[in-house]
Amino acid sequence: MATERLMSPDTLPAEIEQAGNVLRPTRIGEYIGQRELIERLSIAIEAGQKRAEPMEHVLLHGPPGLGKTTLAHVIANEMGSKVHATSGPALARGTDLVATLTRLEANDVLFIDEIHRLPVAVEEFIYPAMEDFRIDVTIDSGLHAQTVQIKCKPFTLIGATTRAGLLSAPLRSRFGLVHHLRYYEDEDLLRILMRSSGILGMESPPEDSMSLIAGRSRGTPRIANRLLRRVRDYADVKAAGRVSTAVVEQALSLEGIDELGMDELDRSYLDTIAEIYSGGPVGLEAVAATMNQDVGTLEDVVEPFLLQTGFLARTKRGRMLTKAAADHLGVKTPSINDDALFE
Ligand code: ADE
Repeated sequence: MATERLMSPDTLPAEIEQAGNVLRPTRIGEYIGQRELIERLSIAIEAGQKRAEPMEHVLLHGPPGLGKTTLAHVIANEMGSKVHATSGPALARGTDLVATLTRLEANDVLFIDEIHRLPVAVEEFIYPAMEDFRIDVTIDSGLHAQTVQIKCKPFTLIGATTRAGLLSAPLRSRFGLVHHLRYYEDEDLLRILMRSSGILGMESPPEDSMSLIAGRSRGTPRIANRLLRRVRDYADVKAAGRVSTAVVEQALSLEGIDELGMDELDRSYLDTIAEIYSGGPVGLEAVAATMNQDVGTLEDVVEPFLLQTGFLARTKRGRMLTKAAADHLGVKTPSINDDALFE
């Protein structure tokens, strides 16, 4: 199953209940990377505290695995409040939101993941809640219809999305702070791995071995920490717990992860375009059918990394391998190199 994939930036089922959480920073001072965002948040939190108000509503967008949920918890901890976590699809009806909002204590954080999937009817309810901490509920219908206003406590909404483009303009405009999370630099991933290895009780692994993991983690802390666990297991079983670059190489090659952080699924996607479709351009549906994969999986979990790495180009006529990809795979570069192809 695609969601079980080691290199997927999504949370794997085992990580939800498992130790995944112990590696998460809980305070803003522990948070590594995303410096600009951390600075903006620190100011917003302090300003709110000075005025004895909740912090402004925050919209975080960017690829999965970069710490949007973690940040919601960090913010709540800094404000001395609690997080109430839900998601766009879980709030199917207006009443679901009313129930959630009326449970909030003053200055609590309401975290809505996948906020782009909030149904339109629920979105209408959320506007007065965001602006005036008020919910307008219509009771009865027709001639007897009337609107009842319910007050809720002042709160901070933190919305997270991987698809900011799908958010309606009115919803987006109600966030005071909007920030795009970027992939992490290797040096930040290295610091995260050094911190995580300490928490996991690994005996100070050499920095070069952690750098090797950082370089294969696709700029994503969740993947870095997951690979670290695989390396720790391998080292415990095969090397008396001692991690070295050789141990990392062996552990990751056993998992089918190459030096660029690509796994079987990435390679199979690239190979399909290279071999069956002569490097493209080819429609995504055709690639998915050939691979017997779901179009959504390819679009959401395989392509973002390949686009970012510069291995894949999206053209008007379909997907195409780049020269870098062809070189990496040792195949011929697609012959078409026409500017008119590009969007
Ligand atoms: N673990 C996962 N993400 C982290 C981050 N940004 N800082 C510190 N530790 C982390």
